[in-house]
Amino acid sequence: MKRIGVLTSGGDAPGMNAAIRAVVRCGIERGLEVYGISRGYSGLIDGEIEQMNRRSVGDIMQRGGTILKTARSKRFMTEEGIRHAAAMLDTFGIEGLVAIGGDGTLHGAQELSELGVKVMGLPGTIDNDLAYTDYTIGFDTAVTTVLDAISKVRDTSSSHERNTIIEVMGRRCGDIALYAGLCGGAEEILVPEIPYDINALCRKIVMSANHGKLHSIIIKAEGVDIGSQELTQEIQERTGRETKLVVLSYLQRGGRPTMRDRLLATMCGAKAAELLAEDSESKAIGTVDGQIVAYDLADALKMEKEFNQDMYRLIEVLSK
Ligand code: F6P
Repeated sequence: MKRIGVLTSGGDAPGMNAAIRAVVRCGIERGLEVYGISRGYSGLIDGEIEQMNRRSVGDIMQRGGTILKTARSKRFMTEEGIRHAAAMLDTFGIEGLVAIGGDGTLHGAQELSELGVKVMGLPGTIDNDLAYTDYTIGFDTAVTTVLDAISKVRDTSSSHERNTIIEVMGRRCGDIALYAGLCGGAEEILVPEIPYDINALCRKIVMSANHGKLHSIIIKAEGVDIGSQELTQEIQERTGRETKLVVLSYLQRGGRPTMRDRLLATMCGAKAAELLAEDSESKAIGTVDGQIVAYDLADALKMEKEFNQDMYRLIEVLSK
């Protein structure tokens, strides 16, 4: 293989730039020509493709977002769009592709792979919702941002003796809420994986207050089947205690990537370049038990994510 492309797609995640940097520099080191594709699959369909060099990825490691830009392409979800994307790669003589993104991006990568393109999927999403890897690029930074927010909210919640609900992202995955809740000392976390019981939740808040707790911090994952406003109102009415809502939204997606995210991104990017230089079949690259792994792409996407029940139960114990 002589020429490869790299793109970022779906929601941006801190660490994507570090991954692009590693793909470009390690690819060139291995004798490959590396092309950057702007705006994800959408830019691929439109031929927004330019050759990159070592200097094109200078000074980006520490930046959040993605220098290649990103998009959620509706056209790429159609059979025609996928064929068009594959034809564009062929037109540019690009035989291998590194696709950095979440679940949708990796499924798109699999579709291209079925048309003969060798694709390396890198897990770039704050959601940590990909089953084949212990962590995704961006997750650690997002949780660190949420922890910082919890600490600040804790000060004011405690001064005013209020309940505060902090809504975090994650789509249908509760990992951001789980890790931030455990490490931030939340009283309660609500995640899509575990059905919640409003009576038990409110009982706990009232009893905690009776036992001298000044405030309750509740981390709610966005994927839970109740609107955050509605939940806030319900808790206020049932507990008789002032209850406030903080929605962290895109704050969680921006900012400087942490060491862990830069490291994971760099190691995954380097592995992708190595595998493409060796003409490997399509893979999903990630980390398991601290090691970099590369699974068959189709197999990786069939794996089912397990929610960490032990961590969840620990929050129950620690928050009493
Ligand atoms: O997948 C990352 C993510 O931030 C999710 O947590 C969230 O549900 C979604 O993207 C938001 O998407 P958008 O950027 O389209 O608003």
